[in-house]
Amino acid sequence: MNYRGPYRVRADKHRPEPRIEHPYDAIVRVTRSLICGSDLHLYHGLVPDTRVGSTFGHEFTGIVEEVGSGVQKLKRGDHVLVPFNIACGSCPFCKQELYGNCHESNPEATAVGGFFGYAHIAGGYDGGQAEYVRVPYADVSPTIIPQGMDIEDAVLLTDVVPTGYQAAEMGGIQKGDTVVVFGAGPVGIMAARCAWLFGAGRVIIIDHLEYRLEFARKYSYCEAYNFKEMDDPVVFLKKATDWYGADVCIDAVGCDATGNALQEITGKKLMLQAGNATALHWAINSVKKGGILSIIGVYGPPWNLVSMGSVMNKGITIRTNQASVKRLLPKLIDHVMAGRLNPKGLITHRIPLEEIGDAYHMFSAKRDNIIKPLLIPPTAYRA
Ligand SMILES: NC(=O)c1ccc[n+]([C@@H]2O[C@H](COP(=O)([O-])OP(=O)(O)OC[C@H]3O[C@@H](n4cnc5c(N)ncnc54)[C@H](O)[C@@H]3O)[C@@H](O)[C@H]2O)c1
Ligand SMILES: [Zn+2]
Ligand SMILES: [Zn+2]
Repeated sequence: MNYRGPYRVRADKHRPEPRIEHPYDAIVRVTRSLICGSDLHLYHGLVPDTRVGSTFGHEFTGIVEEVGSGVQKLKRGDHVLVPFNIACGSCPFCKQELYGNCHESNPEATAVGGFFGYAHIAGGYDGGQAEYVRVPYADVSPTIIPQGMDIEDAVLLTDVVPTGYQAAEMGGIQKGDTVVVFGAGPVGIMAARCAWLFGAGRVIIIDHLEYRLEFARKYSYCEAYNFKEMDDPVVFLKKATDWYGADVCIDAVGCDATGNALQEITGKKLMLQAGNATALHWAINSVKKGGILSIIGVYGPPWNLVSMGSVMNKGITIRTNQASVKRLLPKLIDHVMAGRLNPKGLITHRIPLEEIGDAYHMFSAKRDNIIKPLLIPPTAYRA
């Protein structure tokens, strides 16, 4: 996959294969890879320092082809799922299990750690929408796919499942709580599903794409409402919660929201703020006084226009971060193996890697009832 500029990506057949550059590296031959809503922020040109020629993709599985001299846990032939965070495993932040905030893997930033395929603000690593990938710190996060686990479930454990789960976890959900999730993409749908695992009493999801709302009703067993049919989503949600507001709101939209003309113009046309923060604004205003706001949707530098005064005066607790995939994997592998979570149920499209340009176009335009597109590289079948 080769990024050529906003709204332009293509398959590049002449790219050199990656090599071991450090003793802790491994090279994996990709078996499955996914496109993420986060990749759309790159595709839409919203992420600073997204360089032409880079390869996206941070959700992939692969077979280890080669390991550096310092790698001890992995060997050639292991089939691994590779978490999207690149983590050194030994800095103070990794030691606190903040694997998304590793201090060593991203020389370009002091906030976020390194991610595969996520522009130079996340370290400039090439990603997994490819046939081969260089995986740094190979002993830390890559995890051998458990015996008996479907590869389509495994690939979703690299991001969407832990991210949706962490969104619910950060909500601090108490038994019986009303949880409102903004955004019925894969992350929001998974967050809504996971909210029940934490004891939610009522789960509501908000989007404007009817097919996604329908999907969420069935997959996440939740109420689902279309904000385009409301005069004001905040008033609608207040009314639905005895005018108190939700106990917990989850923003699973991020900086690429829609639904407010002023946000659209200042955020995406004039770039006076970092994207369109409509969902965050609604979430702040829909949560009850003293409630918790979990932000899992991605925002970037430098700032966004939201009502900080409401956060302060309502006493809202905000919890947010990139998902810490490695921290959550043991628990989530259990949930999947026991059948309590069904990740592959999110996959709606299976597309050859060679058709990556069409895949991005379809996902960005939300055509053909797309929820989660899976890419299958030619290397998936190579022995
Ligand atoms: N924190 C993390 O670790 C992490 C990891 C993965 C993804 N993410 C982020 O999570 C977000 C969702 O990811 P996804 O893959 O589900 O993306 P997606 O683009 O498939 O879904 C976003 C959904 O939000 C809806 N939406 C747009 N404006 C809205 C509004 N004002 N109110 C409610 N819904 C609105 C869209 O119609 C779409 O269905 C993205 O911002 C992504 O970058 C975060
Ligand atoms: Zn992702
Ligand atoms: Zn680290």
